[in-house]
Amino acid sequence: MMPEISPTQAPAHLRHGSNIGQPLTRREGVLKVKGEARYAADNHPPGMLHAVLAVSSIARGRVSFLDIAAARAHPGVVEVMTSANRPPLADDPDAKTNPFMFRLDLLQNDQVRYANQSIAMVIAETLEAASEGAALLAPRYEVLPARVGLDSSESFVPAAVGVGNPSEMRRGDIAAGLAAAAKQIDATYETPMQYHNAMEPHAIVAAWDGDTLSIDTPSQGLAMARGRIAGLFGIPPANIHIRSPYLGGGFGSKGLISGPQILGILAARLVGRPVKLVLRREQMYGPVGHRSPSRQRLRLGIDGDGMLTAIDHHARIASSSFDDFFEPAADASHTLYASPAIATSHEAVRADTGTPLFMRAPGEATGSIALESAIDEAASACGMDPLAFRLKNYAEVEPISGKPFSSKALRECYAQGAARFGWSKRPLAPRQMRDEAGLLVGWGIGTATFPALMFQAEARAVVRRDGSGLMETGAHDMGQGAWTAFAQIAADGLGLDLEQVEFKAGTSDLPDAGIAGGSAHTATAGMAIHEAGAAVIARLADLATGDERSPLFGAGNTGVVARGGRLFRRDDDSRSDSYGDILKRAGLDEIEARGKGAADPAAQAAYAMHAHGAVFAEVKVDPDLGQMRVTRMVGAFAAGRIVNPRMVRSQIFGGMIWGLSFALHEHAVMDRRSGRTLNANLADYHVPVNADVPDMEALLIEEQDRHVNALGIKGVGEIGVTGSAGAVANAVWHATGIRVRRFPIRIDDLLTA
Ligand code: MOS
Repeated sequence: MMPEISPTQAPAHLRHGSNIGQPLTRREGVLKVKGEARYAADNHPPGMLHAVLAVSSIARGRVSFLDIAAARAHPGVVEVMTSANRPPLADDPDAKTNPFMFRLDLLQNDQVRYANQSIAMVIAETLEAASEGAALLAPRYEVLPARVGLDSSESFVPAAVGVGNPSEMRRGDIAAGLAAAAKQIDATYETPMQYHNAMEPHAIVAAWDGDTLSIDTPSQGLAMARGRIAGLFGIPPANIHIRSPYLGGGFGSKGLISGPQILGILAARLVGRPVKLVLRREQMYGPVGHRSPSRQRLRLGIDGDGMLTAIDHHARIASSSFDDFFEPAADASHTLYASPAIATSHEAVRADTGTPLFMRAPGEATGSIALESAIDEAASACGMDPLAFRLKNYAEVEPISGKPFSSKALRECYAQGAARFGWSKRPLAPRQMRDEAGLLVGWGIGTATFPALMFQAEARAVVRRDGSGLMETGAHDMGQGAWTAFAQIAADGLGLDLEQVEFKAGTSDLPDAGIAGGSAHTATAGMAIHEAGAAVIARLADLATGDERSPLFGAGNTGVVARGGRLFRRDDDSRSDSYGDILKRAGLDEIEARGKGAADPAAQAAYAMHAHGAVFAEVKVDPDLGQMRVTRMVGAFAAGRIVNPRMVRSQIFGGMIWGLSFALHEHAVMDRRSGRTLNANLADYHVPVNADVPDMEALLIEEQDRHVNALGIKGVGEIGVTGSAGAVANAVWHATGIRVRRFPIRIDDLLTA
């Protein structure tokens, strides 16, 4: 009979050797600081060549000429890869057999579909020779007019938004809700294109050995990347070995393997030598995904008591001319505010850009800044404090589905965040506060929410005769601290101290850890680790309780507890057995087991699962110059069990900074004539620097959610963006009395209003 095993059920702080919940520093932190962490582009296998992409300077048309001879003749150039000589692929790069498969530009023809699309690749002995060769190609084009922006083409209703969400959802009667309203808000907000600017650009070092492929490349989804490469090259996934131990940021752009990375593999095949490709910063503005621009109309009805009677959220977004990704911006209104009538809908246009894709809180961030601004406008129209209005209108059950969810935690976020910030001193009317230097001061609030998702993951656990443990899963650390958090979960799952556990992650040969996306990695791979640990402990317990030489013999019905490398009788702490002794007596060197992490469909059917938060921001505005500066931010977040508060705070700060950036900085400026991004570099594409980031505080609100998974883990990677963007925008209004509905808010918006 299987004994009752509860290796991690006891409250974390009570367990000896407990690791979950500890603010441990990053395991690889010292390596990173010393420059010894080896990122993809740091690899230089013997015989390696350098590749440089030549990319299109037009957004639509075809390449009519490339001076291949000139490039080839350049000293050091080994080969020029174009559509004429690019090795064949087993799959059509324009095929789309599932929603996670995106069409890639792999030199399949001479067509140009967006600016910065790959049109050739030069492979040379040195980076300099490859760069020079690429410049010598001097492409000529047949140019067609570029379709730019949200009015570039006829709009249509997409079949789905995000990955498989319905484009339209309704609950209740919007017309009736608006008719019953004492006050109405009808406002349109615009958000810009944003481009991925991870510190580490996409890079790959690819080496073939016959039909075996070895790759160093950053990936948020090793198994999916391996599957995609296997399909394109017609080789078994087992032939492909991907190493991705460190990522210099991902944020969604490394969730799926991109076209340029595949071109690096093709180049290595073409020349029969290892090849390295690193995208230049400006080459990131096209082939690796971006955040869709949006125009969002929000119509709200509010009755005489300040209660919402209708929320109608309609978003226009843009996808590429050749593929489908539709930013689910309006879906932000599904999950926060109660109303008898809610409708969300989308329309889309096609523009001559690369395909938009996941970018930190895709949909949620984009929709949230509009929704939170509109809610603020509603509060103001009713003469109500925006926090009081939110407290009145936040939903007790998930609005669109009617399922129960963790609204109590949200109330706690509002209360604790407001108290910490000092919100009660906020004057109701805007333009009332000034600091000692005469700057206008404004305070704003935004509500944060993000779904608590889980995908699928596997892990393998081993306990060895020397008492040590091993945990393996192909998990990804984009910098968020996943290795550290997973090692903590692994140690607890194995009932061992952290130093006794070897934790392996970051390569495709390990069990599939799923994708590090959707803020679901810690929950999903963490549960796989937890389950693998529990399974290996259960096997040890079986051995011990069935062995008459063990102090635990016959304890099967009572159960045992694992801690510190020993199993203890649950009812008698004086009787225990060490892992090493159990294995020794059984004549085993080690024992292993696997575990899986996945969502529980029954719990998901019964409950809506979200993390929640409330963000409070202070902005100071120069009344003469319109300069804006965020001077203070306090966020309070409830995201289930916090595995590592240090890593979680850091993640949340990153999200809050991105929210600040969304409201005030980021904007890819498109040239309407050429369809090119004018500011495709880190000098002109504004992201916050240290001086833009104020003292931030993130309060972690304790939340024990027993429904999301056995560990109670939700995600923290994306939620920080969602409340923060609106909080900053609303603070600008409170400082100035000017409501800017086009983001990012610019100085001229304040000076010309
Ligand atoms: Mo995230 S946009 O799911 O990496």
